[in-house]
Amino acid sequence: MGEDWTPVAEEWARWWGSFAAPARELIVRATAVAPGSRVLDVGCGSGEFLAELAGRGARVAGVDPAEGMVELARRSVPAADVRLGDAEALPWPEGAFDVVTAINALQFADDRDTAAAELLRVTAPDGWVAVANWAERANNQLDAIDAALNDEPGEDGDLRLPGGIEHLLIDAGAHVVETGLIEVPFEVPDDDALVAAILFGEDPASGPLVIEAARPYRTGSGGYRFLNHFRYALARR
Ligand SMILES: C[S@@+](CC[C@H](N)C(=O)[O-])C[C@H]1O[C@@H](n2cnc3c(N)ncnc32)[C@H](O)[C@@H]1O
Repeated sequence: MGEDWTPVAEEWARWWGSFAAPARELIVRATAVAPGSRVLDVGCGSGEFLAELAGRGARVAGVDPAEGMVELARRSVPAADVRLGDAEALPWPEGAFDVVTAINALQFADDRDTAAAELLRVTAPDGWVAVANWAERANNQLDAIDAALNDEPGEDGDLRLPGGIEHLLIDAGAHVVETGLIEVPFEVPDDDALVAAILFGEDPASGPLVIEAARPYRTGSGGYRFLNHFRYALARR
């Protein structure tokens, strides 16, 4: 397991819990999630997607290696089967789900090929696997803050680049049906929220740097809006 998200689980949920909403919406529509659909969200974080899926009548399950995330997800969606675990070793049998999703999560897996194979393994024959991740940095206005905080420019890992998710899934044996870019704006109402959302309470001395880097994205109401993108791929087993 990589970095443990437990210490930041509450703050994550507060500031970023709805961030992936446009990607979630796209996946729900494209995979035709309906009442009774068996859906697994891998790297489910604090469980916002599980709540949405449960609200649509799906039979939902989630998995995350961070105990703090699992606790939040279980609390927010008591009906969901939320388990502690990694994408690389999913604790369900073969073919258990109609739709398996991983949003903004696979980049944290130590072994992405194994993780992709696991997504496929627990998907029912002809079921859907849907993966979405941050696009390359040039497509994300939030990168201006990253660039200001880090001396070394961040690299674009494979999953961010065009074809990255697609090839991961194809190599795992999936049939990719659709790929694309989707807008995921990030908005906060004021300076305090911006600093809290970026620094999660760590390194308060960097607050002014964050605010300075965010200046071009300030809105008329004193908040901030950053236009970012996820890349996604929808595939069938
Ligand atoms: C950026 S959060 C995204 C949470 C959620 N998918 C969302 O979009 O709101 C990343 C999540 O991936 C989880 N994660 C880290 N390593 C993982 C792994 N190897 N397998 C599955 N999830 C992992 C983290 O614990 C964290 O909850």
